[in-house]
Amino acid sequence: MALFENLSLQKKGSILYIIINRPTKLNALTHRTIEEIREAMQQVYDDNNIKGVVITGAGEKAFVAGADISEFTELGEVSSRKFAEIGQEVFSMIENCPKPVIAAVNGFALGGGCELAMACHIRVAVANAQFGQPEVNLGLIPGYGGTQRLAQLVGKGKALELIMTADRISAEEARGLGLVNHVVAGPDELLRKSEEILTKIISKAPVAIEMVINCVNAVYNKEEDGYQTEANSFSICCKSEDFKEGVKAFLEKRPAHFQGR
Ligand code: COA
Repeated sequence: MALFENLSLQKKGSILYIIINRPTKLNALTHRTIEEIREAMQQVYDDNNIKGVVITGAGEKAFVAGADISEFTELGEVSSRKFAEIGQEVFSMIENCPKPVIAAVNGFALGGGCELAMACHIRVAVANAQFGQPEVNLGLIPGYGGTQRLAQLVGKGKALELIMTADRISAEEARGLGLVNHVVAGPDELLRKSEEILTKIISKAPVAIEMVINCVNAVYNKEEDGYQTEANSFSICCKSEDFKEGVKAFLEKRPAHFQGR
């Protein structure tokens, strides 16, 4: 496995942990960190032994406290557009990953950290985590997909309020808004709950899981007819060995053994 400066990768069975590892800077995302996330996600796409991913932050204080503000002084008009596009591209890799990705939010998820969590398929958070998009405090707006994904998750009115006020909200409030799926008491429960959800998903037919991710993402893709995507994906599932096995196992009253093809 490649050596990373700002990430630590840990394999636990078929689950890959991607840990953003700059705890002294509250795991703030530098340009390099974004590129390292790209590389780690490419491994997830390529490695058949990885069936699911947990993204979390090192330490107990922060998931990710945003993009690294110390790099902002270098941003000009052209480079800032590139900055946003690169982040959007890498976070889209997470969102469109054919394998389930869970954000285990262990503390501050601010700015790019909230955006990173939102790019994941499911979010589990510790009770003392805090979420927010504080970019307007810096004269900025979210640039890694936050304006789009926050509105998708919590609705237009609340997204506008959160982004325009820069308010920080608790994990419980985020759960009430639909931004977080589950809130747990502490770090041990965080990993346990994330693994429990992933293990359940991984036990299902991988082809079907990939199609579910495609179809639900299609809701938000203006160039795609989601119903067409669903019908196509349904027929892809019907051609799979997993489908034959799932039906056979049901009729034979035994657990299915899916191969992911
Ligand atoms: N970029 C760069 N460095 C950051 C950072 C960020 N987004 N967030 C935190 N850090 C650094 C701090 O500069 C500090 O570094 P130092 O010890 O070398 O001075 C270290 O992480 C610890 O942060 P600190 O501010 O001392 O912790 P705190 O508990 O007092 O406050 C926060 C925590 C999250 C409230 C505060 O760090 C903060 O507001 N961060 C910025 C959040 C933000 O605006 N994110 C969006 C960016 S677009």
